Amino acid sequence: MNKNLTRIPLLLLALSASPWLFAASPDGQTIATQGNGKGATACIACHGQQGQGNADAGYPYLAGLSADYLRNQLTAFSSGSRKNAVMQPIAGSLSKQDIAAVAEYFSGLPNDRLKGSAATPSDVSGKGAVLARNGKWAAGVPACFRCHGADGRGVAPHFPPVVGQPEAYIRNQLVAWQTGARSNDPLGLMQSVVKSLSRDEIDAVARYLAAQSEK
Ligand code: HEC
Ligand code: HEC
Repeated sequence: MNKNLTRIPLLLLALSASPWLFAASPDGQTIATQGNGKGATACIACHGQQGQGNADAGYPYLAGLSADYLRNQLTAFSSGSRKNAVMQPIAGSLSKQDIAAVAEYFSGLPNDRLKGSAATPSDVSGKGAVLARNGKWAAGVPACFRCHGADGRGVAPHFPPVVGQPEAYIRNQLVAWQTGARSNDPLGLMQSVVKSLSRDEIDAVARYLAAQSEK
């Protein structure tokens, strides 16, 4: 008998034992605009039609962030190493494939805040500006822009942009690292950055970063 023919039953067995291999999961755009049909509501309801976020509500933009970063954050919400009452149940109902697909989708959307020449800073001597641009070396805090790019627009894939995100969102993240509600950052880099920031400094740097590259 032809050697190849003897392999067919084995192949069929393998196929029937793994139907999940072929179960269609929704694509990234469908999840973003309609949800995944399993508990994750449409992302754009909060993160904006184009993933541009919602400054008034404090929802961050997702457009143009690196797919790696987005995937890591969704996985962190799902595992609880990043805590948030709204995002944890949503991320928890996304499969690994859903997470990969929706991360890819938002990563590919254009984002004006991340383009063009650096915004002309309105104030360069305020407390927030000094922290972002120079840091607070006496307390071991490097400039935010040292890691987040010279203009705060991020360095993909590991350092997300920090400019133009809602002020309340930035402030919440810095406080979350101080309290341990967000503990998923690689090498604990952000945890050590925020350790010696006062509440006043957090407010100032959040206000400064939010105002840069505002749309
Ligand atoms: C009901 C509103 C709401 C919906 C719907 C929603 N989100 Fe969120 N999302 C939030 C809020 C609020 C935060 C900020 C959480 C925090 O402070 O940690 C957030 C944060 C995120 C972050 C972290 C961004 C960053 O810069 O670190 C990602 C990624 C994210 N959401 C992805 C999604 C995806 C994908 C969906 C759809 C499957 C979705 N979200 C649906 C409200 C929502
Ligand atoms: C030593 C490098 C480093 C320095 C310095 C640094 N960051 Fe970060 N930052 C990171 C990394 C890495 C992440 C991504 C964490 C993750 O993947 O969860 C991050 C994430 C963030 C985020 C979350 C963005 C989002 O979309 O959720 C904010 C906000 C932030 N940093 C603000 C700051 C501020 C403000 C400063 C200056 C006071 C600063 N960072 C200095 C490395 C750094």
